[in-house]
Amino acid sequence: MKIGIIGCGVMGGAFARQFAKKHQVIVFDRTREKAKALAKEIQGASAENLHEFAKTVDLIMLAVKPKDLNKVASEIGHTMPKGTLVLSILSGTSTETLRKNFPNASILRLMPNLALVCGHSVIGIVDEVCVTQEMRTMMETLLADLGLLVWISESKMEALTALAGSGPAFIYVIIEAMIESGIAMGFSAKESQELSLKTIEGAVALLRASGKHPGDLRWQISSPEGTTIAGLNEMESCGVRSGIIKTFLATYQRAKEILRLSI
Ligand SMILES: NC(=O)c1ccc[n+]([C@@H]2O[C@H](COP(=O)([O-])OP(=O)(O)OC[C@H]3O[C@@H](n4cnc5c(N)ncnc54)[C@H](OP(=O)(O)O)[C@@H]3O)[C@@H](O)[C@H]2O)c1
Repeated sequence: MKIGIIGCGVMGGAFARQFAKKHQVIVFDRTREKAKALAKEIQGASAENLHEFAKTVDLIMLAVKPKDLNKVASEIGHTMPKGTLVLSILSGTSTETLRKNFPNASILRLMPNLALVCGHSVIGIVDEVCVTQEMRTMMETLLADLGLLVWISESKMEALTALAGSGPAFIYVIIEAMIESGIAMGFSAKESQELSLKTIEGAVALLRASGKHPGDLRWQISSPEGTTIAGLNEMESCGVRSGIIKTFLATYQRAKEILRLSI
C-alpha cells in the first residue's frame, strides 16, 4: 500500500517508521528538511507538492497538531480525489469537523499513543455505521503490529484520549518518583530504574495472570503491622489515589473543552 503522512513530528514519524516496514511511505511536512530526513531514514519518499501527494497515495494519515488542521484542509480539503481514505490522529477533532474540512474523503478518526513505537500502543478507532467491512479489515491489517486496536463510539474518544493517549505521561511521573525513591535509599540511578521497571512489569504480569482485582493482590502483599501497609497508609494520607483520579479527569475535561472549541 502507498501511505501518505502529513506531519513528520513525534507521532507522524513514529507511524512512518512502523508503516515503512511493510508499505511504501511518502511523507510531507511544512518543514521540508524534516520530511526529507525522515524519508531518508525510512527509505521512503518525501513530497514537495501537497496536491500531487494527495493524488498518488492510497490513504493519508493526518499527523499535524489540531491547530494546523485548517491550513492543511485549505490546501487539499476540496481537491483530493473522491473517496480518499483519511486517517486522523488529531486529538479533540471530531469526525464531523474532519468531514467538513475534507468533504471528498472517507474519514477514520484514530487515537493512538506513542507506545506504537514498540508495538504496545492502544489505538482507538471511531466505530460508525458507515465504516465498511473493507475499511475495518484494512485497519486491522495495517495496525496489527502496533498494539491493541479498539473500535469505540465517538462519545468515548475523549475518555480514551485521557486514559490511553495521555496516560503514558502520567505513568512516567510515577516511574520517575519510584526511581528517585530508590536513589534516596542508596541504589544507583541505573539500578533503581531497572528494579522499578521490573517491579512494575511484574505487577502488571501478575495482575493479568491471576485475573484478580488489584485490591486482592494489594492485600496479599500487606502483612499485618508490616511494611507495605505502612506505605499504603502514607499513600492514602498523601491523596495519591485521588490525585491520580483527578489527573485523568482534568485531562478528560481538557480533551472535551478542545473538542468543543474545534466545532
Ligand atoms: N504526541 C502524542 O503522544 C500524541 C498521542 C495521540 C495523538 N496525538 C496527536 O497527534 C498529532 C501530532 O502530534 P505530535 O506530538 O506528533 O506533534 P508534532 O511533533 O508537533 O508534529 C506535528 C508536525 O506537523 C507539522 N506541520 C504543522 N503544520 C503543517 C502543515 N500545514 N503541513 C504539513 N506539516 C505541518 C509540524 O511541522 P513544524 O515542526 O514546522 O511545526 C510538525 O512536524 C496531534 O494532532 C496530536 O493531537 C499525539
